[in-house]
Amino acid sequence: MTQISLMDDLAEVLVSGEALAQRIAELGETITSYYMDQGIEEIVLVAVTNGSIVFVADLMRQLKLHAKLDCIRVSSYRDDTTPVSEPEIIDNIRMNIAGEHVLLIDDILDTGSTLQKLVSVLKRMKPATLRTCVLLDKEGRRTKTYQASYSGFTIPEAFVVGYGLDFAERYRNLPCIGVLRPELQNPPEWC
Ligand code: IMP
Ligand code: MG
Repeated sequence: MTQISLMDDLAEVLVSGEALAQRIAELGETITSYYMDQGIEEIVLVAVTNGSIVFVADLMRQLKLHAKLDCIRVSSYRDDTTPVSEPEIIDNIRMNIAGEHVLLIDDILDTGSTLQKLVSVLKRMKPATLRTCVLLDKEGRRTKTYQASYSGFTIPEAFVVGYGLDFAERYRNLPCIGVLRPELQNPPEWC
């Protein structure tokens, strides 16, 4: 059987697998140093699923700290490339984060709605501290004044897939971040 080359569906590779690994190692060091300098030895990672799972899996192994893990699931996109409405929490975290040092991790900061909403929801659970980390930042698209505490790469305003990010649930398993070929973006023929 011939194999499918997901890479053929990309117009351009924005961040290679090697660049991802290198930057994530740096982020791991920066985050570890920050908390160690504060005398904090344990944090709670809250991963925004599904998009951040590949990033979180790699990042957490670069942290030289105790790191508990919980997930939160949000819906703000339909199966196309434009946000529908306000992000909605479909599955909340199970852990009691009161008094914990929480690091909220998402794949990409776009308009800022998702992180802004999640930060306000998590703050109500009274964590001792709450910081945010995103792999990608599309600064140009921000409609909310929001900045992540840690960001991997600033990228241009294109719809990207790979390394956890999807289009209509596809391409999460690409090992790099790339721009999907425009003719594949809308409407998705496999839906
Ligand atoms: P925001 O709420 O507009 O900041 O969007 C954040 C969410 O939108 C992320 O968690 C992603 O799931 C999704 N998103 C934004 N831009 C892209 C993209 O280029 N590719 C895939 N998903 C994206
Ligand atoms: Mg997402």
